Amino acid sequence: MNSIAGASTSHETPQSPVSPRRVLITGASGALGGVICRRLAAPGTELLLWGRDAARLALVAGDCRAAGAEVVVRAIDLADGPAALAALAQDDAAAPISDALLVAGQGDAVPAGLNIEPAAQVARLAQVNFAAPAALAAALADAMAARGRGRILLVGSAAAFHALPHAPAYAASKAGLARFAAALRLAVAPLGVQITLVSPGFIDWAAGGRPVPRALLLPLDVAARRILAAFEAGAGHAIIPRRFALLWLLDRLLPGPARAAILRRIRP
Ligand SMILES: NC(=O)c1ccc[n+]([C@@H]2O[C@H](COP(=O)([O-])OP(=O)(O)OC[C@H]3O[C@@H](n4cnc5c(N)ncnc54)[C@H](OP(=O)(O)O)[C@@H]3O)[C@@H](O)[C@H]2O)c1
Repeated sequence: MNSIAGASTSHETPQSPVSPRRVLITGASGALGGVICRRLAAPGTELLLWGRDAARLALVAGDCRAAGAEVVVRAIDLADGPAALAALAQDDAAAPISDALLVAGQGDAVPAGLNIEPAAQVARLAQVNFAAPAALAAALADAMAARGRGRILLVGSAAAFHALPHAPAYAASKAGLARFAAALRLAVAPLGVQITLVSPGFIDWAAGGRPVPRALLLPLDVAARRILAAFEAGAGHAIIPRRFALLWLLDRLLPGPARAAILRRIRP
């Protein structure tokens, strides 16, 4: 994984800061994705909004249209990998996608009362948080490389950098995504395609109800703004907020038994 110091940016494929033209956003029906969509919505921009919940997608779509964007909505379940790739091929064939922000993800932890995560949940998180965004990014990068330009954002998590006993599949799926992003970035930078990974810590949103100290929470709007800023700046990898990069460093430096004792105390 690159950018071990965290919160860092690499400018391997600087591209002109043109407004996105045809932008795919997965997770558009979610808290973070919805704010990102609304921030991107402007005249001259076409937004392809993907999510599962048709009602929430329609709300976001309405706001984006009111801001002057053209909007196409697609209700889709990323648990079906082949269907997601077919949908992507269809959307890109209709008109080339210039930017993709792959935000969708699930944050399930070990359910209350269990010591070990159910196998079905492990498989689901591996698919939705890793396999689907990685496959979509590969397909997009291929199409964009053929055009000589394009930008892809992957939303990971600071959880990727810690072996969390209360959320093994979440941490691992995001770790896999981080490694994939770093490798794909190296492969496609010379072809004019930008890959940005943003690894947020805890994001605060009303329904999220995070049982963590306020000092560790990043307001939703701030998270969206900083994610888009990293994307626009052509960052390779950004950890937000910065203190989560320090936690990553601490995790790496601590002796194994001390690290294990701390990680076992963390609750979802
Ligand atoms: N919240 C945090 O503290 C935090 C911290 C670090 C990273 N992140 C990451 O940020 C991203 C957005 O999270 P959020 O906080 O905005 O959560 P959220 O409100 O629950 O949104 C998740 C989004 O992902 C979509 N999604 C989930 N499973 C899907 C599936 N099988 N197929 C298609 N879409 C699916 C949801 O669609 P529907 O709602 O329509 O089902 C929703 O749009 C995730 O990747 C998450 O891991 C969040």
